[in-house]
Amino acid sequence: MNKNIRTLIQALAENHSLTLDEYEALITARDQEAADLLAQLARTAREAVYGREVYTRGLIEISNICKNDCLYCGIRGSNANCDRYRLTPEDILACCQEGYALDFRTFVLQGGEDGYFTDQVLCPLIREIKARWPDCAVTLSLGERSRESYQRLFDAGADRYLLRHETADEAHYRSLHPPAMSFARRMECLRDLKEIGYQVGCGFMVGSPGQTPKTLAKDLKFIEEFQPDMCGIGPFIPHRDTPFRDCPPGDVALTCYLLSIIRLISPAILLPATTALGTIHPTGREMGVRAGANVVMPNLSPVAVRKKYALYDNKICTGEESAQCRGCLSARMESVGYSLVTHRGDIKKI
Ligand code: 5AD
Ligand code: FES
Repeated sequence: MNKNIRTLIQALAENHSLTLDEYEALITARDQEAADLLAQLARTAREAVYGREVYTRGLIEISNICKNDCLYCGIRGSNANCDRYRLTPEDILACCQEGYALDFRTFVLQGGEDGYFTDQVLCPLIREIKARWPDCAVTLSLGERSRESYQRLFDAGADRYLLRHETADEAHYRSLHPPAMSFARRMECLRDLKEIGYQVGCGFMVGSPGQTPKTLAKDLKFIEEFQPDMCGIGPFIPHRDTPFRDCPPGDVALTCYLLSIIRLISPAILLPATTALGTIHPTGREMGVRAGANVVMPNLSPVAVRKKYALYDNKICTGEESAQCRGCLSARMESVGYSLVTHRGDIKKI
């Protein structure tokens, strides 16, 4: 690591900000020494806010039916090999009940853009979850919807919304998505969510086809400026039934490097060590937490549907029961000196 990079890293830790060119230089100059320094500073920043607690969310994959056709995604609408399913509101409530008994206090309802899940279906469901388990947070991750819909879901009791921006570079966004989707619309959704009052999560894949240090620098600048409450990043992993089947997967070390940088940009941000990270490396999630992540999202979906929610190949945790994943993750976090906690896990304002 040269002296310039050390100076940049120290400036980032102090000011939580760099210029676009500086972010790009930091990414281009990545070596082991820089990664170690960033991780160490990121752990210090994270532990000042959250100690050694790791927040946990129960992920319920409510539908793999999707009208979109993102080029990277295994459940894209045009994938005829995808075995489609949709949970009923009763199925979803049963997952929450099981999750509550396992100490989960956040439920993430994630799914493709499935026309079945109208506001008329979702609002009563959200109200029911909040009525039965008032000490729980409800997070939605259901893609792009109208501002009015986001407002109705919020009024029904949803607390948080995850919508990855996927890339902050417009041309790169176009190369990852079909013409019907637009970068401007994505950004508008994120702004709407924030204005309505959700705790908002954005995020992107590491190593998506066409990604460069320049596009990554834009992602970091976007995170610095947008100030999301959460940011989901994980490696891109090719899916055999997509146009990107032959593209190389994202890199564990680069993912961890970016987790550390994001932690330093925003010391209190909620940063998951994702399932994709655990998929490309046997101890990827532990490495993520050691790089500055502070959230894990074990799967609460019924085992019967898990294999069908295949965004990418070889996804882990598709055969295990929810209780097994909870226990497994708990042990994994303990192994690196962290412990899972059982409250809602809201962002701490500093
Ligand atoms: N590899 C890794 N992550 C993926 N996602 C979708 N497809 C893949 C893939 N092939 C991510 C996207 C999406 C989130 C739900 O999963 O970033 O927003
Ligand atoms: Fe699911 Fe380890 S977290 S098996």
